[in-house]
Amino acid sequence: MIIVLFGKPGAGKGTQAPAIANALQVPTLATGDVLRAARRAGTPLGKEAQGFMDRGELVPDSVILGILKEELAQPSYAKGVILDGAVRTVPQAEGVKSMLSSLGRKVDAVLALDIDNEEIVRRMAGRTVCEKCQTPYTGRTPGDACDKNDGGKLVRRADDEPEAVRTRLAVYDRDTAPVLQWYRTNGDRVIQVNAVGAVDDVTARILKALHA
Ligand code: AP5
Repeated sequence: MIIVLFGKPGAGKGTQAPAIANALQVPTLATGDVLRAARRAGTPLGKEAQGFMDRGELVPDSVILGILKEELAQPSYAKGVILDGAVRTVPQAEGVKSMLSSLGRKVDAVLALDIDNEEIVRRMAGRTVCEKCQTPYTGRTPGDACDKNDGGKLVRRADDEPEAVRTRLAVYDRDTAPVLQWYRTNGDRVIQVNAVGAVDDVTARILKALHA
């Protein structure tokens, strides 16, 4: 099953992706995580992406499509994949469609997490992430150890500061929200789920909607 996980910054994509992946027994692919790993490794990709990410802007489509082309051809995604935040513009949606089509595959569902901006701002203000595995946390202090026992420390993301959050929300409205309509117009299955509530309740809503 190939699922495009879609939603505003802070909607809970990174929180829900592993739970959905676990339930469906497929891996996740988060372009944000790929880019942050490239930054930490100091690769040309990471250096190119850094400024865009810290300002809260989108990394250019050509860069994202290059990542996805390389990744989606990997055998590890043969059974399916949860694409976490990997499709954020109409050209990206078109590119993914043609890439999958050349592999004889297609998107099975677009899962959109619904949430308002007030809740987003609240979540971003309280978020820390593991510097190693990128697991997001709420209510934890930077410098704490990650619960996954990977030796990683929790850090704040530069793009969670208020100015970058404002930019990310504006970029979402301008460039990313129209992608949902693009999928609808193309006849893809679009599922909208209320992303507010306890994490496990949101997961249960998602799985129920996917299996409906
Ligand atoms: P990325 O890392 O994907 O950032 P994002 O889309 O802005 O999403 P976030 O990771 O901020 O939030 P999330 O929805 O995963 O929420 P989370 O689960 O952490 O991308 C970063 C940057 O990379 C982009 O800005 C861009 O520059 C670039 N990029 C990546 N992909 C790209 C693409 N395709 N095209 C172009 N550029 C791209 O949850 C947030 C917080 O809320 C956490 O603290 C969490 O613990 C908490 N939380 C989660 N669920 C709940 C709940 N139910 N109740 C209460 N709190 C909750």
